[in-house]
Amino acid sequence: MRKEFLPFAKPSISEEAISDVADSIRSGWLAMGPKTIQFEENFAKYTGASYALSVNSATAGLHCALMALGVGPGDEVVTTPMTFAATVNAILFTGAKPVFADIDRNTLDIVPENIERAITKATKAVIPVHFAGTPCDMDKIEAIAAAHGLAVIEDAAHALGASYKGRRIGADRGARHLSVFSFHPTKNITTGEGGMICTEDEELAERIMVLRQNGMSKGAWNRYAAKGSANYDIFFPGLKYTMMDIQAAIGNSQMRELESFNRRRAEIAGFYLRELAGIEGLILPKRAPWDYEHSWHIFTPFVDIDRLGFTRDEFMARMKERNIGTALHYQALHLFTCYHEVTGMGRGDLPEAEYVSDRIVSLPLFPAMTDGDAHDAVAAIKEVCGKC
Ligand SMILES: Cc1ncc(COP(=O)(O)O)c(C=O)c1O
Repeated sequence: MRKEFLPFAKPSISEEAISDVADSIRSGWLAMGPKTIQFEENFAKYTGASYALSVNSATAGLHCALMALGVGPGDEVVTTPMTFAATVNAILFTGAKPVFADIDRNTLDIVPENIERAITKATKAVIPVHFAGTPCDMDKIEAIAAAHGLAVIEDAAHALGASYKGRRIGADRGARHLSVFSFHPTKNITTGEGGMICTEDEELAERIMVLRQNGMSKGAWNRYAAKGSANYDIFFPGLKYTMMDIQAAIGNSQMRELESFNRRRAEIAGFYLRELAGIEGLILPKRAPWDYEHSWHIFTPFVDIDRLGFTRDEFMARMKERNIGTALHYQALHLFTCYHEVTGMGRGDLPEAEYVSDRIVSLPLFPAMTDGDAHDAVAAIKEVCGKC
């Protein structure tokens, strides 16, 4: 058995990033400043976005995006139940109501036709989530949004480096359209905590720049730097959602490594797909039928609980006994007390999400994983599935 615990995720931080952080701290400019601006420029160039606006988390980014769109009390926003709580919390922070549309168990993404069925007169926006790094079928979602006059916010927390029909997630996709990325330590790149909002919409970009810094018309960099001027105005109350240069220092280094990180993620995913094929007790992730490139944020097979005769949680416990970490992305949100109460949805209402929620498990997947680590994970799975 493996001696050391293999976590399900672990960031790779280079010595260069560490010295860039030290440089920021020594420079005396710790908050948003030149390194953050550089990070935004790097990100816009990589994704193909007109504007890339940094924030201190994707949760903050989703909240800012909804606020910039004017979503508020009395409005509804359609999203997937298979996402992290942040997607729905951001909707609730604005006073709007989240409405769940079911997913497809093969792609794990929200189904465009289900979005259409969930739309009412109160619907203002739709938030598709590119689950695990499989981009949603955006052409169909955008056509539905356009027909109903809805804004689109892509929750791209899992999708940095993924592309849809040859264009990177985050690339310009028109007015009232935004994409929000996360740099939490498990993500494709990290800044510790952090997020980025990409958009082509100039008006929304300007509103977000103001919203993220207390509603001030000018950021600290424009006020305190040598060429800045101290005065500013406030047009509406904002939040304090800015990223720090300390974070952006890590981000700039991570952006240089992103492509090699994602290549390694894809290699490990390919290894799992080959080595786990045919194992009774595990149902492997399937490819969606549209044209896309996966970013492999997570690798999420299903535990075949009907065949194994024990639960997914038991599978996770047995993996842990063998020193292999796993994670749960996600328990379907309508099964949580909070979201059940606000949406009125419960077990039986979203059967595909419930099927997935009972079976899904995330296996170890991170760029610094060795071939030996991947072999150990596979060996443990074979043992756990074989012992039933
Ligand atoms: C799908 C999804 N949306 C939003 C978030 C929130 O990201 P953050 O932790 O940067 O606020 C996450 C983070 O785990 C996520 O996975």
